[in-house]
Amino acid sequence: MISQRSVERILDAARIEEVVGDFVNLRKRGANLLGLCPFHTEKTPSFTVSPAKNLFKCFGCGRGGDAIKFLREHEGFSYPETLKFLAAKYQIEIEETEEQRKDDPEEMLKDQLFVVNQYARDYFSKQLFDSEEGRGLGLSYFKERGFRESILKKFDLGFAPTSGSGLTVQAVHDGFRAEILQQAGLCTTGNRDFFRERVMFTIHGLSGKPVAFAGRILGKTAKGPKYINSPETPIYHKSNVLYGLYFARQAIRKEDNCYLVEGYTDVLSLVQSGIENVVASSGTALTPEQIRLIKRFTPNMTILFDGDAAGLNAAMRGLDLVLEQDMNVRVVVLPDGHDPDSYLSALGPEQFLHFLETERKDFILFKTSQLLAQSKNDPVARTKVIKEVVQSIARVPDPIKRGEYTKICAQVLQVEEPLLIAEINKVVATDIQKDRRDKERVERQDATSQNSSGPPLPIQDRKKSVHPPQELDIVRILLTGGHKIIQVGEEQLPVAQYILNELDREVIQEFKSPLLQTIMLECLDLIERQLPVTSDHFLKHEEEEIQHLAIQFHSPDYHYSENWEDRYHIVLHTQRMPEDNFARDAQMALQRFQLHKLDQLCEMNAQRIKEAYEAADEQQYLHYLKFQQELQTLRNAVADQDLNTVILK
Ligand code: UTP
Ligand code: MN
Repeated sequence: MISQRSVERILDAARIEEVVGDFVNLRKRGANLLGLCPFHTEKTPSFTVSPAKNLFKCFGCGRGGDAIKFLREHEGFSYPETLKFLAAKYQIEIEETEEQRKDDPEEMLKDQLFVVNQYARDYFSKQLFDSEEGRGLGLSYFKERGFRESILKKFDLGFAPTSGSGLTVQAVHDGFRAEILQQAGLCTTGNRDFFRERVMFTIHGLSGKPVAFAGRILGKTAKGPKYINSPETPIYHKSNVLYGLYFARQAIRKEDNCYLVEGYTDVLSLVQSGIENVVASSGTALTPEQIRLIKRFTPNMTILFDGDAAGLNAAMRGLDLVLEQDMNVRVVVLPDGHDPDSYLSALGPEQFLHFLETERKDFILFKTSQLLAQSKNDPVARTKVIKEVVQSIARVPDPIKRGEYTKICAQVLQVEEPLLIAEINKVVATDIQKDRRDKERVERQDATSQNSSGPPLPIQDRKKSVHPPQELDIVRILLTGGHKIIQVGEEQLPVAQYILNELDREVIQEFKSPLLQTIMLECLDLIERQLPVTSDHFLKHEEEEIQHLAIQFHSPDYHYSENWEDRYHIVLHTQRMPEDNFARDAQMALQRFQLHKLDQLCEMNAQRIKEAYEAADEQQYLHYLKFQQELQTLRNAVADQDLNTVILK
């Protein structure tokens, strides 16, 4: 047992923000740090770390505690494991005492399961490399498939012999109780080996310990299921495990991408070829827990689908789950009849990687074009496609990303963007309601549970709509260059002032996006109080959503409205980050905004014309027709505006 003195030294050294910081991205927020909770799915951070109190607390799911508690829950460590982990992190030497450990029975059982699995792992491995049958059937099978010994050893592959109870007999002889072998799923209640005449795959937990096994039948013709797997045990929850993650985690971090394949052998094959950032979902649909596991290491994943189109649509539907967790998902579909293992063998590593890099497509765009192709212009089918795509886009938590998708998908689907926006917002609104109900439920549970601690949950009203691009554009300019001085005619004034001179309060009140409207009103307020509208003001804004938006506008990969040219026939002169072109940029944003407003008016008026026509109301009909002409003239005038009247000083 670890001595009390060591325990104290470790507990003294462990800083909550450093321990949590290894697993969660934390941002400073006053005296505390704030991040996305690693224990439940959330889109706005409610996970706080208090360095002063040396505690963490999530106001979303209610979890909280010290560094030890965090590691136990997050990494699934036992208490001694946690201490050892921290000792290693802080380079503290551990003194052991002889004292008997008095752990709780559950931890004891887990430890026993790990030990018996280690024993089985070594047994299977020994059989594969050292026994005649193992070499003849198992090793030769793996070799035939092109797996080298180094990879077989690294991944703890093995062989389960044909004989009925080799493992059980030997393990019992070596002091294991039959019950623990049974609990681990290694032997049957009749004390026969569970895995027989199969090549064995060890499934590792995140810390590299064997948590379960899978046995593959030899050859193709044999009867029985292709794979059999260990049952769920206290140390193995199928939905929480990804095959290969233990070996892949560093590569995933380094490459900032995780390849996801279906089969165990696909993982082996890719790793052997030097593609180490790969894990397998083991043939089942991805679970939220598995996605969170990947997300600890990267926000980017590339899913490789076997080339049997059968399951593709179903699989794609499952992926909305991934979007929800704000992951960037790309997909690659392998050619018909191939899985990653077979296609890699066919192409060789270099060409295979090239294939992945050229063929991978953004998931939402892939899904859109895939479904569209299947619908073959049948209008009913097309409506269904739009619904499906709307579902996916609505899952994307980041409003700017959602806006980008909306824009592109509207083009691909050939529907009006506002229509798509409206559909998406409907779904988003329902989601928010559901979200809120969930939060309220947690809150109620929190209030009734006896050991509840911390303040009550704030119910956040997340204004989570798709921002109309014209509005977003104006706000972008205000938040990035509002304080820049430009020359307008005879006058010199800040960009913000120029823009807000052109848009009065009523127009702002018509902004569709509540968030953007809030920002606009705040700018107006600043100007009325003769204060500068600076980026800094918004980058340090206390409203998190506003701050987040400002940060995104400043990020180098933020790109905006590139289809303006097609839509409004305005030649776009501005570059991607128009730092030195605020004058023109501001003017054009205004122009686009006005054009958009005029287009909306035209549309409304067109409807009135139609109604008047149908009602045979000639007077109204002519009236609106005339108005339409005026609107058109105005629109043309705005479109033809000379853009060189405003210049940067
Ligand atoms: P595959 O049939 O594609 O297997 O199933 P594979 O791993 O590519 O094996 P080879 O290359 O044909 O030998 C993909 C995954 O689905 C799970 C396994 O995790 C497998 O790796 N699976 C499949 C099962 O759990 N049971 C089965 O009977 C079949
Ligand atoms: Mn396969």
